[in-house]
This record gives sequence, structure tokens and C-alpha cells, in this order.
Amino acid sequence: MASGLLLSASLLAISCAKYQSTSIDPGVIAPLKQVEEITLQNSMPFAMGAAVNVSLMKSNANYRDLVTKEFNSITAENAMKFASLHPAKDTYTWSDADYLVNYAIASGKRVHGHTLNWYKSLPDWVNNFQGTTAEWENLLKTHIQTVVGHFKGKVVSWDVVNEAIADDGTIRNSIWVQKLGTDYIGRAFQYAHEADPDALLFYNDYGHEFGPTKRTAILNLVNSLKSKGILIDGIGLQMHTRVTQTDANLATAISTAAATGLKVHISEIDIALNPDRAQSFTYTSTLADQQAAKYKAIVKAYNAIPKAQQFGITQWNVTDADSWIPSNYSCPDWPLPFDGQYQRKPAYQAILDGVK
Ligand code: XIL
Repeated sequence: MASGLLLSASLLAISCAKYQSTSIDPGVIAPLKQVEEITLQNSMPFAMGAAVNVSLMKSNANYRDLVTKEFNSITAENAMKFASLHPAKDTYTWSDADYLVNYAIASGKRVHGHTLNWYKSLPDWVNNFQGTTAEWENLLKTHIQTVVGHFKGKVVSWDVVNEAIADDGTIRNSIWVQKLGTDYIGRAFQYAHEADPDALLFYNDYGHEFGPTKRTAILNLVNSLKSKGILIDGIGLQMHTRVTQTDANLATAISTAAATGLKVHISEIDIALNPDRAQSFTYTSTLADQQAAKYKAIVKAYNAIPKAQQFGITQWNVTDADSWIPSNYSCPDWPLPFDGQYQRKPAYQAILDGVK
């Protein structure tokens, strides 16, 4: 009898992947302890996200399953940008973004909204819009409030303004600045806040790790918004970086963002192995290990900021096969922690090791 019970307990333990029998006491059915599978979302002390591509989510089960398994936060890679959501003045197309939001709700994941205002991904009707200052202001306000209102209660946080600072530290000469002046940035935050007072609002940009020029300009911008009483909750560090970047610059990017007191989101991380964009380039295990060390250094620096400021780390797409880098820069590259066969690269373990 006892041996029969023991046998069934062991079989149960073997047959159920998620459960493991720890110790089997003769004559007693060993307690079955739930053992969590190692995934990013199970193992990391802060949210782990990925930017996702809607058509891959719909058409590719391997891609979708990996997102479901590994991440607890998602960002739409493109589906919430202006041109995607608002292709004509009186037309909003919600279906792709709604699909992602519904997927996230069904699978218990957080959605970070990207992005309400950017100088890129604008539809022609905006680039060609002829209007008075008041009409431009209305365009900005209407877009932000319609989008934030649509996703109210479902999208917890927004990149309100994306990439408003140029690499030389000046305010980028975008269509928004030309039509509305630089104060539009603060008003964009106010409009978003009015539409969903519970949403967390971020300023998102790249290049904090380049050096003090751009970094200081970004920090001055967010500090000036704060000092004007504008509600801003966080700062997004895109972290489209490269394996040749120094650990010191990466750590400074993170610690100076945290010094603002705002939440810090590493919002679009990828680490290029071919930063000179060579047309012919070989992926080697040495490069993979160097990339892993760089991911670990970033995670370590991020883990060192106060817990309450850790909004999470989001990678920009899921596998090397889906990354925007090769198509955008027309060169081979392998910037992400998963390879094109959906397998974990050395960077994956390095991310886990970064919080040990
Ligand atoms: C990129 C997408 O990944 C591409 O698919 C698209 O063609 C262009 O935009 N900074 C950002 C992101 O804030 O929105 C960009 O995403 C990458 C750089």
C-alpha cells in the first residue's frame, strides 16, 4: 500500500513539469512543492517587458508563446504611434492596439503606451496640416486625449513625449516646436494627465549613455517640468546601445536618471554587436559573451537604484530575427537576448545574473 502510494507520488512528480517532489519520507506522501520555471518574469525583481509586433503576435505562435512565457509587461513596437492610430484627421484605427491590450489583459500583463508625441511616425495629414497656432494646439490635445481616453484604465503608463532633445543637447527642431514652441512638451503632459489622472507619465529618449551633453539636456528638461509643477512620473532610457559602450557610461546614465527621483524605465534596450554597420559581419560566441557582460552591467546598475523607482526593463522586440536594427540600419546584427530560433542566448543568463 505504502509503496503503491509512493509510486503514484513519484509518477505524479515526474509527470507534472511544474511540480517537484522534494523529499520522500518512507510511508508518507511527500509534499508537492510548486517550483516556478525560470523565466524573466518569474525571476527578476522588477517588471520585464518586450516591445511587440502585432502581426507576429497574430501569425507566429513561437513568438507569441515566448512573449507569454517570459514577459509581464508589453509595449507596442509601432501600433500606438500617431500614424498607426490616427491615419486621417477624423479617423482612428484601434484594432491592432486593442488586440495587444486585450491580449495583455487576458494574460495578466502590464501595457506601457508608446508614444503620444514624437517627431517621427507622423501621418501625412499632420505633416501637411495648415493651421493656426490654436488649430495645431487643438490637434495635439485632441490626439493625446482621444488616445489616452480610449485606453484609460488599461494602459497604465505612457511615453508622453519621445525624443524631444537633439544629440547636441538643444531642443529638437521638430514640427511640434515649429508650430507650438518648446512649451508644448509640458502641455502634452497636462493633456495626458487630464485624460487619465491615474496613468504614469514618462519622458522617453535615447543617448543618456553617450555623455554629458545630451544627458544633461534631458535631465534639465525633466527637472524643469517638475519645477513648473507639471506631473511627470518617470524617465524612459531607451538604451539602444552597443557592445562597445563603457559600463561606466551606462551606469551613469541610469544613476543620473534615478537622481531625479522619478521612476526609471529602461524602455527599449538592445545591444548592437555591429555598431559600425558593416555589411559583412559574423556572429561569434566571443561577441555573444561580450554582449552578455554588457546586459549584466546594465541590469546590475539598474538593480542598484531604489526599488520604488524601478519601473522595469523593456527590450525592443523579442528575438534577433525581429529586431528593428538590421532593417533600420541595413546591416546584420544580433542585439537581443533570444536568437532567431527563439532560444536563450548568453545575454539571457547574464540578465538573471545581474540581480544576484
Ligand atoms: C522603431 C520600430 O522598432 C520600427 O519598427 C519602426 O520602423 C521605427 O521605429 N526609438 C523609438 C521607437 O522610440 O519607437 C523606435 O521604434 C526605435 C527608436
